[in-house]
Amino acid sequence: MTDPIEAPSGAPPFDAARFRQVLGHFPTGVTVVTGRPEGGDPVGLAVGSFTSVSLDPPLVAFCPASTSSSWPEIEASGHFCVNILAEDQEELSRTFATSGADKFQGVGWKPAAGSGAPILDDVLAWIDCEIDAVHEGGDHYIVVGRVLDLDAPRPGGPLVFYRGGYGRFQP
Ligand SMILES: Cc1cc2nc3c(=O)[nH]c(=O)nc-3n(C[C@H](O)[C@H](O)[C@H](O)COP(=O)(O)O)c2cc1C
Repeated sequence: MTDPIEAPSGAPPFDAARFRQVLGHFPTGVTVVTGRPEGGDPVGLAVGSFTSVSLDPPLVAFCPASTSSSWPEIEASGHFCVNILAEDQEELSRTFATSGADKFQGVGWKPAAGSGAPILDDVLAWIDCEIDAVHEGGDHYIVVGRVLDLDAPRPGGPLVFYRGGYGRFQP
């Protein structure tokens, strides 16, 4: 068996495009993570890196980029709400994936009872959280949230993101 060939500099044998292309083979759901800074306007961003972490205590996590403009405001509020999008909410995902846009214009929402963070209208499910820990993860953060409350108010299928495109779940 031959040893793997390493680049002389120790750099990995792939570039950013290859990293994205290969990792894009992992399908994810699509969420919008929202927050509401005290006395400020609501903020949010589209997030695919959401995951469940622990049942006892109840913890979830997601990974905002260090370049995210919404994340510092969410962090300052101490809370966030994860909104799991339904298959007919692709437009909402596109809106919340656009940095600097007036993301909440024309979007219906109500404040979560625990945190005040926006629960968007017609989402499949929502998970309201208090920020428990923030870890550094390269050019992203790994944010762990303690779940305060959650619900799945709407039947139907999820919006799915796979290899750079949107789709639906077919059992
Ligand atoms: C399907 C999908 C998943 C995404 N997942 C993430 C993610 O996990 N973390 C992240 O920081 N940005 C993610 N983004 C990109 C952000 O939504 C995008 O950069 C957004 O403009 C950030 O807005 P902000 O600058 O207001 O924070 C995703 C975008 C899409 C369309």
